[in-house]
Amino acid sequence: MNKLDDKCILLTGATGGIGQAVLQQLLVCGAKVIITGRDSLMLNKLAGLAPEKINTFAGDLTDDATRRALLAYCQQLGGIDMLINNAGISQFSAANDQQLQTLVNTNLLSPMLLTQLFLPMLRLTKGTILNVGSTFGSIGYAGFTGYCATKFGLRGYTEALKRELADTGVRVLYLAPRATRTAINSPQVDALNQALGQGVDTADVVAKALVEQLQGGRPRRFLGMAENVFVRVNALFPAVVDHALSGKLKQIKQFFIGTGVKNSAEV
Ligand SMILES: NC(=O)c1ccc[n+]([C@@H]2O[C@H](COP(=O)([O-])OP(=O)(O)OC[C@H]3O[C@@H](n4cnc5c(N)ncnc54)[C@H](OP(=O)(O)O)[C@@H]3O)[C@@H](O)[C@H]2O)c1
Repeated sequence: MNKLDDKCILLTGATGGIGQAVLQQLLVCGAKVIITGRDSLMLNKLAGLAPEKINTFAGDLTDDATRRALLAYCQQLGGIDMLINNAGISQFSAANDQQLQTLVNTNLLSPMLLTQLFLPMLRLTKGTILNVGSTFGSIGYAGFTGYCATKFGLRGYTEALKRELADTGVRVLYLAPRATRTAINSPQVDALNQALGQGVDTADVVAKALVEQLQGGRPRRFLGMAENVFVRVNALFPAVVDHALSGKLKQIKQFFIGTGVKNSAEV
């Protein structure tokens, strides 16, 4: 088991629902955490939980200069052992209304570029990269075309990187939460999940799974029993899932109205 008590961990998206729960768990394990997000007030508030264990960095990770400044800040603090790429946004709407550039920049390009920047440091520490994906990184779902594309991409990137770094001592992990109760989901998505009887986790459930994965090193983890089955069936027999989801399409589309990108700077 990998101990976390002497580790320095960079956590993106720390101000969000899952990020805050992960931070709490990491502190329980005795880790030092560098937390990032755009909301500096929230970052300062979170730092108050354990000022001796938490350092904060506020900024938009889609910006190249910000990512480089974050690297410099972490170098100044003595480097990191683990990078958790957790920051993300979502959008639920018809494909024509999707803000694709913002979704791709935030959910796919930024974590890839951040990983690239931190790789030399992580090679030195034989560190860990954990990318937070989604069930929708394995199952294409109506209304989430852009989001699904970014999470499919992140899963592919993680798998290729893991295989490329297999001889370096750097661990590359992928965690796919299912629907989780946080602000990333618009009221329409919450209502859709309820209407479809979709299982929804708390952020604590995801955070516990994430920390277990950091400690145990399981390379891939998909949360939710039904979602696990669905992911496997979709991989082997996609037509079965096409059929199952087409039966729900009318209901899904009823929730399209009035949706938008959550947490995005672009309106
Ligand atoms: N909740 C779910 O249903 C669910 C399901 C599967 C996977 N996930 C994944 O879990 C991760 C965390 O999501 P969450 O549910 O905790 O969402 P959330 O509560 O909305 O938090 C999102 C976090 O990402 C940060 N962020 C967004 N855009 C950013 C940017 N441009 N630069 C820097 N930080 C940015 C936000 O920071 P600020 O607000 O401070 O800007 C916030 O800390 C995401 O990758 C998401 O895709 C969530």
